[in-house]
Amino acid sequence: MSGRRGAAVGATVLVASAAVLAGSLAVARVALGRLGGGVAAHAEGGGAPAPEISSDQVLGGERVPAARLERGGALYDRYCAICHGEGGDGMGPSAPFLWPPPRDFRAAQFKFTGAPEGELPHDDELARVVRRGLAGTGMQPWDLPDQELGPILDYIKTFSPPERGFRDPYRKPARAEIPPDPYRDQAARQRARDEGERLYHAVFQCNSCHPSYVGPEALAGWGAAERPVAPLDPVPKWSATYRSVLLPPDFLRHELRSIATGGGARLDHDLVDLYRLVANGMNGPMPGYGHLDPAQVWAVVHYTKWLADQRGSEEGRALRRRLEDAWGAGGGGALRGRSPAGTR
Ligand code: HEC
Ligand code: HEC
Repeated sequence: MSGRRGAAVGATVLVASAAVLAGSLAVARVALGRLGGGVAAHAEGGGAPAPEISSDQVLGGERVPAARLERGGALYDRYCAICHGEGGDGMGPSAPFLWPPPRDFRAAQFKFTGAPEGELPHDDELARVVRRGLAGTGMQPWDLPDQELGPILDYIKTFSPPERGFRDPYRKPARAEIPPDPYRDQAARQRARDEGERLYHAVFQCNSCHPSYVGPEALAGWGAAERPVAPLDPVPKWSATYRSVLLPPDFLRHELRSIATGGGARLDHDLVDLYRLVANGMNGPMPGYGHLDPAQVWAVVHYTKWLADQRGSEEGRALRRRLEDAWGAGGGGALRGRSPAGTR
């Protein structure tokens, strides 16, 4: 099996990486479709080998038939291996061109799937991430039917080493309940935003990693500590698990990766996705806040969404100018310049 699949990966590397870097999914998909049958030889020597699938396997507590994994493996090699690697180690042929790097599936660690800390992600959440893509990264949206995506997701689980990740007999995919949003009308949402602003800075201290969006006087008024260095800048942090410097987004500048801010009919969906992310955290880079009062978490979610919606607007630019004035030279330079080292 691995010979046939290796050929497909090698053939698509140049065309697909160029297309993906150009940001055009349509072009990438056409290139993959045309060359997916396999023409050139697979580059020798790189990356972990594809797992051998000869029998049914228990993955995430479910028995998965070998035929389904075979099918998932062939599709994975066609669509995903170019970045995530044939052996799921995140070292596919396109990986050197991508920042952040593609996920290493062997660790079974996911940032955006909203599983509570240390738990495995639910298939529905994996499917959401793959279908929506991760804005601003090499991970494009994949419009795949259930009959294809389901087997691909099961195949990804086979990369877990014995007794670990999806092969750990004591772990099952988990999905947290999302409590209903208590702030439903315009007036309630305005109140939630105001309360969320205080909670963000003074109670949850999201601004210990993300920027502050109020001046020093407001912080002092709440009795909140101010971050001594560059409070208007996000704090980048190296993560060995994700093999990358992770930069908490500045909501006024950076696109959120996993939360489409489509507006209109999608609005409530976005809020639910944002709640899930804040409640469960990101498995390493960011803690979860789901153990706290849901009304408070919802308030912070409304505030965060409001900030993210200001990105690129006149109101957002005015807020930024007020913050720079309020903090002066000690506030940090990045608001005026580019992101550190192109991490976002
Ligand atoms: C062009 C390169 C590329 C291709 C092709 C690609 N991915 Fe990704 N993928 C990435 C990158 C880069 C990330 C990491 C993004 C980040 O860390 O912010 C990622 C992350 C992921 C994640 C982790 C999400 C999380 O919550 O942490 C999953 C799951 C995933 N990809 C699945 C897939 C599947 C399934 C396919 C094939 C259908 C695929 N990817 C194809 C580049 C790619
Ligand atoms: C310990 C540092 C830390 C704290 C505290 C923290 N975050 Fe984060 N947050 C991060 C990092 C790092 C990322 C980016 C991870 C990545 O994309 O690789 C992030 C990403 C996010 C995202 C973007 C998700 C996406 O899809 O791109 C949101 C929204 C967010 N944080 C909200 C919050 C809120 C609200 C709080 C407080 C309740 C908070 N964070 C507290 C470190 C932190």
